[in-house]
Amino acid sequence: MTAYDVERGDAVHPGKPVTVDRYTGGARINHWITATCLVLLALSGLALFHPSLFFLTGLFGGGQWTRAIHPWIGVVLFFSFTGLFIRFWRANLWKAEDGTWLARLKDVLTGHEERLPEVGKYNAGQKAVFWGMSFLILILIASGFVIWDQYFAAYSTIDQKRIAVLVHAVAAVTIICVWIVHVYAAIWVRGTISAMTRGRVTGGWAWRHHRKWLRELVGGKGRRS
Ligand code: HEM
Repeated sequence: MTAYDVERGDAVHPGKPVTVDRYTGGARINHWITATCLVLLALSGLALFHPSLFFLTGLFGGGQWTRAIHPWIGVVLFFSFTGLFIRFWRANLWKAEDGTWLARLKDVLTGHEERLPEVGKYNAGQKAVFWGMSFLILILIASGFVIWDQYFAAYSTIDQKRIAVLVHAVAAVTIICVWIVHVYAAIWVRGTISAMTRGRVTGGWAWRHHRKWLRELVGGKGRRS
């Protein structure tokens, strides 16, 4: 039987060091398209958010271009993130050990990983980021359509648009904060970045941070690749 958190392509390779495949080429391309979109959306969105940040429109060819391009990048991000969601939702399901992990967040932050329960492919923090991003992107696309006047002006009232602008801005600031946590964690946990650049990590990294997942792979619960 395949474990819930073993994804397509996950596999262990003996050697010195042992390496573990964590992301397929497709998953990585999908991830970096999404990441690029979010950065471009943050820059163009902030440019439209406050006059003091209007200078950022220079990156997109001026104010009119920024206004025109921003929603389209949002549409690309929505479909790209949907791809990530389909790939990763199962491995991000909440499990009993995640509650324990979260309750010991102090040990996570102070580097006492030996006091934490063994976790699968993702820990509770990664799962929170995953579901947080999923929820916020839904809010952003839905509120974004309400204020996309070029095509949808007639479908909502001025009052609805005012609420949508506020919701859109709050969700955008929140997702930028979630994104900062995501990037910080990826850099802070040494050896993680190679998962999304080369697609693999070392056996030591997997043993230290995602031991349950490694055990499943070694124990043959992984999908054949
Ligand atoms: C440019 C900055 C970014 C960097 C450096 C980065 C880095 C990474 C790394 C290293 C991983 C692998 C983590 C692991 O396997 O333990 C990962 C996974 C992931 N990233 Fe990013 N990322 C960035 C932006 C984004 C953005 C903008 C999104 C979505 C809007 C995103 C969504 C995800 C998702 C869904 C995963 C799968 C792992 C999970 O479910 O937690 N990333 N990222």
